[in-house]
Amino acid sequence: MNSAHTWVNPLRDATDIRLPRIAGPSGMVIFGVTGDLAYKKLLPAIYDLANRGLLPAGFTLVGFGRREWDKQQFGDYVKQAVRDGARTKFDHNVWTHLAEGIEFVTGNFDDSGFDTLAARLAELDAARGTGSNWAYYLSVPPDYFATICHQMQRVGMSHSAENSWRRVIIEKPFGHDQESARELNEIVNAVFPESAVFRIDHYLGKETVQNILALRFANQIFEPMWNANYIDHVQITMAEDIGLGGRAGYYDGIGAARDVIQNHLLQLLALVAMEEPSSFDPAALQAEKIKVLQSTKPAYPLNKSTARGQYSAGWQGSEYVKGLREEDGFDPESTTETYAACTLLVNSRRWAGVPFYLRTGKRLGRRVTEIALVFKHAPYQPFDDGQLESLGQNAVVIRVQPDEGVTMRFGSKVPGSTMEVRDVNMDFAYAEAFTEESPEAYERLILDALLDESSLFPTNAEVELSWAILDPIIEYWAGAGQPEEYPAGTWGPTSADKMLRRRGHSWRRP
Ligand code: BG6
Repeated sequence: MNSAHTWVNPLRDATDIRLPRIAGPSGMVIFGVTGDLAYKKLLPAIYDLANRGLLPAGFTLVGFGRREWDKQQFGDYVKQAVRDGARTKFDHNVWTHLAEGIEFVTGNFDDSGFDTLAARLAELDAARGTGSNWAYYLSVPPDYFATICHQMQRVGMSHSAENSWRRVIIEKPFGHDQESARELNEIVNAVFPESAVFRIDHYLGKETVQNILALRFANQIFEPMWNANYIDHVQITMAEDIGLGGRAGYYDGIGAARDVIQNHLLQLLALVAMEEPSSFDPAALQAEKIKVLQSTKPAYPLNKSTARGQYSAGWQGSEYVKGLREEDGFDPESTTETYAACTLLVNSRRWAGVPFYLRTGKRLGRRVTEIALVFKHAPYQPFDDGQLESLGQNAVVIRVQPDEGVTMRFGSKVPGSTMEVRDVNMDFAYAEAFTEESPEAYERLILDALLDESSLFPTNAEVELSWAILDPIIEYWAGAGQPEEYPAGTWGPTSADKMLRRRGHSWRRP
């Protein structure tokens, strides 16, 4: 008989998170499968999951669209996407096995194509053992959500029979303001229960973003300082060096704030600012994020606490690149911003008076996403004049990408016979500390959706609250004329620098 010490609870063992989590019998239908996102991210991620052995044997991938493709032609398209975008090495056996379950159904979103699709899914259930478990990935603009959801309802695709499931995975943009997001939520929730809706925010699938939870709640050194007593301000930066070439159709009229602040940056803010959840159970985690989003408001007046810009032609490294207005497909009169910054306040005991500065832009100096918690100066510093001249403010910087890791910045004595203190960095780099490679965000999120693990998906309440934070800013900009220009390759408009200077701060140069 096992002693109390060696007895292993088989149930616990089966759910041990260190074991690979493998999806059960299931399939996925992708709407918008010929789009950019599917080509670059979704199809490669599905292959990577297959290659890592995390998909069930009969996994079936169905593309639905207008093209007159047969199985072979669609298979060739997927194979090319995998060849171009997969993270893991191409393995002929894995591909051959996956390709057996790749199908294409031709149809429009508003015709009898859905009857054909539903019938095909039923046949596939019988032939491939998918168990009537289907995830529907809507990689299409939100204008199509209503039609697709209604069609799925009409042909019975949304209905899960006993012991099977039907889920919908939705890409952003989820609305363009709070009201439209609410309408979309009503449309989707009229067909799928909230528990079957997985809204993608791919930043939550990034390892470094999940590490915010580990850093804060697995350690004792950070949390005691993680509040307004010690932290002066927080800077959340998502800078990109790419321009909008080719994406004008999507981006014109949307802009930087709707494109990434409403979702990615506010999710980062929520994870950094929230209270400790009682567990990482989806409901517990989401409840804490909701609380913090409810307490978050723009600082006023908006003309002083926000900034926006549009890139003009300039040197991006060694390349001279076009300005926004010269990009193909962009209206030269467009007021769409490619740079957005705002000052937000989190009205809670923990964060009272601490500005959270958020900024994002295209065609900036380099690609970098980071969260910097900048500390107040020590209340008393027993040094002489000049000794602290090279000392800035202490900081903890979560480097989301690239060069993933965490930096701590603090002052250290410069070697020598005088007392001079200068900023130094202490770095943790994922690439050096771990041999495991991080999965792509989409691998993680697609697997989670198949496993019904919803912690990393924002709820409808989070989406609507994020719009509520942003709506007054976007409304103010709508009446404020043209955004300021900034040359490509720089760090954005001068108004963004002024926004911080007013409060005695300055942006980090990441
Ligand atoms: C998307 C935005 O959500 O995120 C794009 O729509 C942006 O405009 C992209 O380029 C950046 O993602 P990542 O993972 O490369 O930082």
